[in-house]
Amino acid sequence: MQRGPGVYHAVVPMRVAFLAAECEPWAKTGGLADVVDALARALGEVAAGELELPIDVFLPRYRSVVVPVGSLTGERFVEVPGGGGAGGTGMTRVRIVDVAADGYRLRLVDHPASFDREGGYYGDATGDFPDNAARFALFCRAALAVLEAEGRPPDVLHLHDWHAAPAVRYRELGRAAPPAILLTVHNLAYHGWTPRAAVGQLGPEWTAGLGRRAAGIDLLGEAIDRADLVNTVSPGFAREALTPEFGMGLDARLRARGDAFFGILNGLDTDLWDPATDPVLAATFSAADRTGKRACRADLLARVGFDPVDEGPVVGMIGRLDPQKGFDLLAEAAPALLADGFRLIVQGSGPAELVGSLRGLAVDRPDRVALIERFDRDMARRIYAGADGFLMPSRFEPCGTGQMVALRYGTPPIVHATGGLRDTVRDEHDQPGDGTGFVFRHPTAVGLRWACETFRTMFEAGGSAWESLLDRGMAVDFDWRTHSAPAYIEAYRRAMALRAGASAPSPTPPVRRTRP
Ligand code: GLC
Repeated sequence: MQRGPGVYHAVVPMRVAFLAAECEPWAKTGGLADVVDALARALGEVAAGELELPIDVFLPRYRSVVVPVGSLTGERFVEVPGGGGAGGTGMTRVRIVDVAADGYRLRLVDHPASFDREGGYYGDATGDFPDNAARFALFCRAALAVLEAEGRPPDVLHLHDWHAAPAVRYRELGRAAPPAILLTVHNLAYHGWTPRAAVGQLGPEWTAGLGRRAAGIDLLGEAIDRADLVNTVSPGFAREALTPEFGMGLDARLRARGDAFFGILNGLDTDLWDPATDPVLAATFSAADRTGKRACRADLLARVGFDPVDEGPVVGMIGRLDPQKGFDLLAEAAPALLADGFRLIVQGSGPAELVGSLRGLAVDRPDRVALIERFDRDMARRIYAGADGFLMPSRFEPCGTGQMVALRYGTPPIVHATGGLRDTVRDEHDQPGDGTGFVFRHPTAVGLRWACETFRTMFEAGGSAWESLLDRGMAVDFDWRTHSAPAYIEAYRRAMALRAGASAPSPTPPVRRTRP
């Protein structure tokens, strides 16, 4: 390509729209929400000239979504098929409410019959909502319809998880040049399985393709087949997902995509997660001066009713109390860990059978086990900053955020070697003097305890080896703007090139237009 005086290369800006069921701070049950928000914002910061800004993020307007007064920037109505509840037919009117978000445009799909409900986003105490297919079909249709109505249809639809999957069969909308699709799989465990009797909720685009003997439709699987490109949130998990052990029944479909399926490691929002400015902490601190970390530890221990001057190791853990996250492994190892002198601070909620034994320990040993059974943002920050080690024994973990936050807050992670955890934590036991945390190979109580013991030995010895471990962890650059957001921009270009029928080897150089 010619470069020289008087010649510059302009990239044609792409119009990208996200479709997602969660976005922090409006709607969150897990890491999906953090990533949607942080990636959209990071793209806004690094993509000038590459993307049309601000990018659009579509989100259902659930009952709990609160729009601050004065942040509403527009509204529009579209008519889309469906909306009559399970199996409903006919057209329904949907309002799209635009909100100025931090670095992107939030577009709430407002359809009270679908989203203004008691319970969670996906179900209530009795289980999943029976009309989830209809709800998310309507969400996707409304997003596409408003983009179309505005006369500036997107170049790339960026779909997140199964909730956005119905869009893969609606993208045409009678257009000659349908948008390219990048599907990001955050959690391969949730497929949006739609039994045959419910497929009608998705409309004729989906019923027409249903095989005569098919028991139903795996929405995530269909999106994997039909998106131009598919990624998951770490290279490590992208490799694991190709195996029957981790593929959750979708490994064959992922293998069939060849190099159109790959991993892009999630970043971390380093403005949101910064111990030097975190307003919740008892004292701020940085890599250059960690003095404040002692005050954070004392504050955390006092808040949970532990002896704040006891120097013994305190391990924190945060997340959904489910088997994916390995809480049962902690519960099994906990008695031995307590006998070894550990104290545990666990935050999260989940089904009674999993929480039961931890709850019992917390009641019996309130001086050594704290169980915080709620999602408390401020308390989470105090745990990241004040614990001595941070545990993530996940059985599988497409990426994980907690370990990145813990590293940045100078709290070495203790993790199972899986997916994004393996990609982000270097094992100090394997690479003495070069590690950032502690990694165990087998997701068992024995493995977990072994890693905790390795951690404890180093923690208790303290001194320069310990301090250097913290230095290395705090120095890792997970900023979205450094690697991850640029990798997504490249993926958008590649998806467009594929859609345009160009043969695009991996990785594809950006499509550039030369202007005199
Ligand atoms: C899901 C995955 C988690 C990932 C997050 C954001 O919650 O389980 O590993 O970090 O999505 O991509």
